Amino acid sequence: MRHDLTSSRATERLSADAAGIARAAELLRQGKLVALPTETVYGLAADATSGAAVAGIYAAKERPSFNPLISHLPDLVAARRQGLFDANALALAKAFWPGPLTLVVPAASSCEVSELARAGLPSVALRVPSLPLAHAVLEAAGRPIAAPSANRSGRISATSAAHVLADLDGRIDAVLDGGPTEVGLESTIVACLDGAPRLLRPGGIPRSTIEGVIGRSLVIAGEAGMAPISPGLLASHYAPAAQVRLNADAPQPGEGWLGFGPQPHDVPHSLNLSPAGDLVEAASNLFGHLRRLDVLGLPSIAVATIPEHGLGEAINDRLRRAAAPR
Ligand code: TXA
Ligand code: MG
Repeated sequence: MRHDLTSSRATERLSADAAGIARAAELLRQGKLVALPTETVYGLAADATSGAAVAGIYAAKERPSFNPLISHLPDLVAARRQGLFDANALALAKAFWPGPLTLVVPAASSCEVSELARAGLPSVALRVPSLPLAHAVLEAAGRPIAAPSANRSGRISATSAAHVLADLDGRIDAVLDGGPTEVGLESTIVACLDGAPRLLRPGGIPRSTIEGVIGRSLVIAGEAGMAPISPGLLASHYAPAAQVRLNADAPQPGEGWLGFGPQPHDVPHSLNLSPAGDLVEAASNLFGHLRRLDVLGLPSIAVATIPEHGLGEAINDRLRRAAAPR
């Protein structure tokens, strides 16, 4: 299977029904690229066992190829053929799968995930998504499916089929339209490699909920002098074209405004993540609101302060990356 980067291809629009599921799985088995909804964000899916198919993901996203990908499976049994689960990994999988958690574990000797999808690492990132549509495609495809977020590298993650097409129309073989995603933030990534579970990326499951299951604090990767072990966590990521100004009290003249909670600001280019101050609602609106403000072409978007607890940790992580110097 060869993906020619320079030639464009027609992107099939698939609907969320039996025919759409069957076609998505058929394309994946042929080594093609299919954008699929999950409960977190849309993923750009390909056969994880095929180096050529995975190379197509990196090419379509223009993603640096040192960045390893998450492989998606229909259930824990299938995941355990790919990776070695210690007691912590097993407890976390049983508590949160299917759902917005990714586990980075040592690759099993029976691991079929290609070297390219693992970026040559001895570990593998595994996730069992909960969205029934995603589960159905994974069952029908019958192999691990690699899927990073379905956006061009460094851009805002896609939470609807329209977002996917805005970035990738003509560069991928199909998009399966399952409507807007529920969580709106990528999965939480936890590495269980050496007995001390580490938080590699905050995400759809709050850290405190995970700590409740393992009965200890998660070490944060990169803290306390540890080398970061998730090479994909580039500082500038999720970047809109506009500059992003965080922890703002109010917009300056000409700035867009992304609010949170009740607010007095009556500004022209203003969206609110959650007028009620609900972090779950804010997470689900984050990427869509950023895209809607960004297409207005304003030089800067000012963002209200978001509390750091619960899903706020992951929301602030994405906002800091959006605001990082490029
Ligand atoms: O919610 C999600 O997780 C979405 C949906 C589509 O499932 N997927 C997603 O994948 O966000 P992606 O490729 O954008 O994020 C993968 C992250 C990267 O930061 C990468 O560095 C890390 O997972 N990762 C993957 N394999 C790893 C490994 N073996 N060791 C450490 N980090 C790894
Ligand atoms: Mg991404």
